[in-house]
Amino acid sequence: MLQNQPIGIFDSGIGGTSIWKEISLLLPNEDTIFLADSKYAPYGKRSKEEITALSIKNTKKLVDLNCKIIIIACNTATTNAIKVLRSNYNIPIIGIEPAIKPAASNTKTKKIGVLATKGTLSSELFAKTSDLYSKNTEILEVVGAGLVELIEEGKIDSKEMYNLLNSYITPMLKENIDYLVLGCTHYPYLIPILKKMLPEQVTIIDSGEAVARQTKTILTSNNLLSQNKKNGKHILYTNGNVQVLEEILKGNTTDYTVKQLNF
Ligand code: SIN
Repeated sequence: MLQNQPIGIFDSGIGGTSIWKEISLLLPNEDTIFLADSKYAPYGKRSKEEITALSIKNTKKLVDLNCKIIIIACNTATTNAIKVLRSNYNIPIIGIEPAIKPAASNTKTKKIGVLATKGTLSSELFAKTSDLYSKNTEILEVVGAGLVELIEEGKIDSKEMYNLLNSYITPMLKENIDYLVLGCTHYPYLIPILKKMLPEQVTIIDSGEAVARQTKTILTSNNLLSQNKKNGKHILYTNGNVQVLEEILKGNTTDYTVKQLNF
């Protein structure tokens, strides 16, 4: 039965588990398959052609694994490759863009910060979205160079991470931003550190819950919601380090299995 086939999710690495988590919480009866393409992380440094080729490889794998819908849990892959994926595959494909809209609509200082990869910030799709909101709001774009690498190495709570993050945040705070948009699915794992660095009046925005809600909407409108009455099964594959993926998933209440896979 098509409805009971899994939701396929992929990311350039382990960061997209922040999206997987929200989807598994909102849609507890759905089976999911997650691909962490850590072997090729970070995507943010790669060319549009490379990002597109990797995104096609991951989508093909998820389609081969019988997925009924694809979630691109990676801002860099979305902004560079979603058009091609949608034209190549005849199943619903959902992507992620930095959530500029809620920040630009609510800012009081009229200055918001966006932290994302070079690949996302230099994409056409990002330029279009930011143009839309930059009339009344100044958008300070900062490339989070090196952050994804440290997360992929399991060095979230490290001095190196703190110093790097501080060097990106300080100039934005000097400009008086009151919203910080996290434009990379790896970055929600930095929220505990960011909260220690940011003054209370700065609100952090990430896209996880919004993507989960969008997934539910699209499954509902395509009559693809699972008919399972029991909890879904979740398999998370990595072509990188299994321990690092297991470490980042610690504390999740959903049952899941982590496996190594060559893809
Ligand atoms: C990266 O692989 O460089 C980051 C992934 C993202 O943009 O979400």
